[in-house]
Amino acid sequence: MADHICPWWIGYILVSPLRRLLQNPQKILSPYIKSGMVALDVGCAMGFFSLDMARMVGAEGKVVCVDVQAKMINSLVRRATKAGLIDRIDHRVCDKNGLGIEDLGEKVDFVLAFALVHELPDAEVFFQQIHAALRPGGTCLVAEPKGHVSKNDFEETLAAAKKTGLEIGERPAMGRSHAALLNR
Ligand SMILES: C[S@@+](CC[C@H](N)C(=O)[O-])C[C@H]1O[C@@H](n2cnc3c(N)ncnc32)[C@H](O)[C@@H]1O
Repeated sequence: MADHICPWWIGYILVSPLRRLLQNPQKILSPYIKSGMVALDVGCAMGFFSLDMARMVGAEGKVVCVDVQAKMINSLVRRATKAGLIDRIDHRVCDKNGLGIEDLGEKVDFVLAFALVHELPDAEVFFQQIHAALRPGGTCLVAEPKGHVSKNDFEETLAAAKKTGLEIGERPAMGRSHAALLNR
């Protein structure tokens, strides 16, 4: 598992509107996120997915956005404020060894971990925290970029998730990504 973190300025490229042609957040997430849910976007960067997630959970829901880089979170806050969605967003800068989500125990309905796990020092420790945050019956969508992550490495990521008690569910087709839904 690599211990390399995406430079903060890549965040501007990740929120490019052109990316929506390949990875449309509404299309990818609408099967999983409903109005009123608590959703968690881990490694959210500048919020390519977070803003759509905030629209999908609606005024009664919440999106917790976590990233290890303050510059990513600061930009997310500016973008969410401009979009009128900041009231639905709980934003947190975490430590590279812990997500700082202990207060969310069994409160989260849905977790998104998009293009994140290959940057983490320990996938199993990560999934232990996700397992603890998810309510029973909650789900986690994991997606990893095919360019950086081999099929075998992705299967190892899923094996690490399984060790924590998460079950491997459907494998949604997604532009240039390996993807799987994990069920608590
Ligand atoms: C490749 S970017 C993907 C961003 C976003 N999920 C997307 O698809 O647009 C990976 C993000 O994960 C963050 N990250 C890396 N290690 C992390 C950690 N230990 N905890 C939380 N976020 C982390 C990076 O700062 C970066 O913003």
